[in-house]
Amino acid sequence: MDDNNAKDKKDEKRKRKAKEAHKTNTLSTQPASPSLVVQDKRESDGEHERATKIANVRRSVPVCIQGDCIGEMKRMATGSCDLVLADPPYGINVRRVGWDKPINPNVDAFNFTYEWIDEAVRILKPGGTLLFFSSPCTLYSSYANVHLDKKPDVVHRQTLSWIYSQGGDCRLENMKQYAVRSEVIEWWTKHQITPTFNAHCATERYTEEQKKVALAKGVGRVTEASLDKGRPPRTWCDIPRENSRSTERSYSSIKHPAMKPLDLAERLVGVHSNQGDLVVVPFAGSGTEMISAHKLKRRVVGIEIDPNYVELMKKRFEGHSIECVFRESSAEKEALVE
Ligand SMILES: C[S@@+](CC[C@H](N)C(=O)[O-])C[C@H]1O[C@@H](n2cnc3c(N)ncnc32)[C@H](O)[C@@H]1O
Repeated sequence: MDDNNAKDKKDEKRKRKAKEAHKTNTLSTQPASPSLVVQDKRESDGEHERATKIANVRRSVPVCIQGDCIGEMKRMATGSCDLVLADPPYGINVRRVGWDKPINPNVDAFNFTYEWIDEAVRILKPGGTLLFFSSPCTLYSSYANVHLDKKPDVVHRQTLSWIYSQGGDCRLENMKQYAVRSEVIEWWTKHQITPTFNAHCATERYTEEQKKVALAKGVGRVTEASLDKGRPPRTWCDIPRENSRSTERSYSSIKHPAMKPLDLAERLVGVHSNQGDLVVVPFAGSGTEMISAHKLKRRVVGIEIDPNYVELMKKRFEGHSIECVFRESSAEKEALVE
């Protein structure tokens, strides 16, 4: 190789590195530290061979990857994650956005759903939890649950309801069906191992009025002190939706039509994981679940396919003064794998 040729090659390498550094948009300025296990999937003799590599992701800094969650989860190691908290497109045609087209089970294959579920279950540790949202208006969770139920290594724990008090209405004269003021959360765990369940994170508090009634009913048995401890979690009716004037929607001009409330995400993360656990959010949207997980001191990796929502997320994280590493899928391998 002559000198000019070698110089050209060096220049090219330098430019490529600079371009990738530019693409790897990070709000973090600190060095990375261990450790997220990421898996490299390769084709070998017609079979997929997985080589586990250690990625350099700081425990305290959330990582958001812009890309397809199936492809990204395929690169995470089997049994590496404690909680997968998924708010997928479940086909309710929300605000008629492209990613939430109605899914007709007779026409559309549920392949995408089955595939992300397979990856989510694979990356969970034994005893790990998969939570996913769905709607009472579609058969999404029915199909997803039947698919999960066929797996020998997962257990259905409960179907939860999040009931909100506002929204979901239209004018009575135009109504063709019931108003919808609830969403479904499916709770699955991997293997017959007692899963994390921090009940105190979902404890319900009695109102003063309710305390009076309880004290009057249970004279002698019920004490003010015991009521102050709260009661076990029940169906959640105490968390409102993020409305259009909410602070959470004010950080960016880009709006997300399906932003979940932080309180809801916080409750789910708090109950179903512990500090230091790894939480994967395959459909990160505007970053709600990521923010909650980070605030509760979990390690978190989020994946979002739409670059506009990634922009929105950046602004929202800034608004919350949270550092986050943002990676493009193509740069992620270079950036995350040592
Ligand atoms: C229901 S929203 C999640 C909203 C989120 N919970 C929040 O509070 O902002 C679903 C998100 O999944 C994203 N999405 C759709 N297909 C995806 C895929 N294959 N990989 C990653 N994200 C995807 C959509 O762009 C959308 O932002």
